[in-house]
Amino acid sequence: MSGKGKEEKSLFEKIWTLANHRGFVFPSAEIYGGIAGIYDLGPLGAKMKNNLIQAWREFFVLRETNPPVYELDGSTILPYEALKASGHLDSFTDPTVSCLKCKKWMRADHLIEDSLDMYVEGMTLEQLNRIIRENNLGCPDCGGGLSEVTFFNLMLEVQVGPADGQTAFLRPETAQDIFLDFKRVQQSMRAKLPFGIAQIGKSYRNEISPRQGLIRVREFTQMEIEMFIHPNEIGNHPSFDKVKDIKIRILTREQQKKGETEPLETTAKESVVSKILPNPYMAYYLAKETIFYQSLGIPYDKFHFRHMMPEETPFYSGGNFDLEVELSIGRKEIIGNAYRTNYDLSNHMKKSGKDLSISVDGEKVIPEVVEPSFGVERAIYCILEHCYREDDGRGWSWFQFPPKIAPITALILPLVRREPLMEIAFKTYETLKENGLEVDYDDRGSVGKRYARADEIGIPFCVTVDYKTAEASTVTIRDRDSREQAVINKNDLIEILSKLVSGIINFEKLL
Ligand code: GAP
Repeated sequence: MSGKGKEEKSLFEKIWTLANHRGFVFPSAEIYGGIAGIYDLGPLGAKMKNNLIQAWREFFVLRETNPPVYELDGSTILPYEALKASGHLDSFTDPTVSCLKCKKWMRADHLIEDSLDMYVEGMTLEQLNRIIRENNLGCPDCGGGLSEVTFFNLMLEVQVGPADGQTAFLRPETAQDIFLDFKRVQQSMRAKLPFGIAQIGKSYRNEISPRQGLIRVREFTQMEIEMFIHPNEIGNHPSFDKVKDIKIRILTREQQKKGETEPLETTAKESVVSKILPNPYMAYYLAKETIFYQSLGIPYDKFHFRHMMPEETPFYSGGNFDLEVELSIGRKEIIGNAYRTNYDLSNHMKKSGKDLSISVDGEKVIPEVVEPSFGVERAIYCILEHCYREDDGRGWSWFQFPPKIAPITALILPLVRREPLMEIAFKTYETLKENGLEVDYDDRGSVGKRYARADEIGIPFCVTVDYKTAEASTVTIRDRDSREQAVINKNDLIEILSKLVSGIINFEKLL
């Protein structure tokens, strides 16, 4: 309890309030009451999202040579037939129940899990109904009785064209465009197996009970890769040597059956040799994701890959190893890694009647697929929570974002509100902007207050223009993390900031 007798806020509430106040995320269409589970990213959230996407593209797409990864920017509206063939129309459902009194809709599995602390994943409607009846569960809000549990399809339907137009759906995953365009991409790029197709874009799910801020929303951004592999070559990844020694943490099915929660540590190579992972393509992505997530500020021991139990594995998958991050609200899945086999291409071939196989040495081949599927909004929440700091005696809370992800790289400030310092500082700010650096300018309040404001939104560096800048062309850079300061030549600023952001140098190098 605080001095005022108010309940101490949970970490999630603190982060969520800060994220709202400091311009990371707002409810969408707020002045009209908005729609539950739909959010807009504010100025800082939008910048962080762009930085995250850029870092992901570089690491998982642009720098990949063997296999190469091509990009796609497909439609978010897909025809009924495509989603019938993919299985989403019949199987992309959650069990739902409604209150007969207040009419609130809820996920039946969440209701049971929250009220009885019972694991019910994969249970039939009959089993769920029985548990609700036997335990006399009612509406958590008003205590009213509950309807029968039914399956609710999570896709959002749209009517394309005027009355009696074509029924379509907003895509529930970006992956489907990739399967539908697979043959086109292969032919236009003259691609040979193995190769990947990546897509970044919005997906939509009509979640029954959106919750926990950005963790379960109805409109979100995915970054997905479908890696297409010759079925006889799934055991050979041409660049596996690059990742073979990377350590990864996996929670196996056997461990979960025994109730263990501490993942085992292995290497990418060992995980394949010991058959913990089904193939080196899966191990390749788990290793890269381990490197990538640490570079976003999520500590190594705060995430692992969980082999999903058969009853939780998505209908299209021959095995999932999802990346889960430890958060104050529990362990949350942030990346779905699925071994999709040839499930999607085969189904689209059957239902469309079109040949999506490719010819390899005169033989028709339907490739197997390994898919890493990243959620952007969930990653942003994880970064906010894991980079949040309040305990080092500064007197204000702050975010320790890695420079490449930080929405703003540097704050440019005149030491005092006097000329020529203000003019030099503003010109410096303009020059840095013209050179593509994410910088901001602030001349209001004391320097200490401006440092505090910069820390609060996770700006890694402050650049102060003082009287020496006018005389000797030097500026002072302050490092957010160590609070150390270094004096450098103003003409080196662009190069130094660029190197600090890309990690080529760290701040100690300047001292
Ligand atoms: N193509 C495979 C696929 O979509 P998924 O596990 O359903 O797999 C992948 O989703 C990722 O998309 C999740 O790990 C999560 O990061 C993100 N995601 C899924 N549903 C979400 C939701 N309702 N709100 C926010 N992110 C979501």
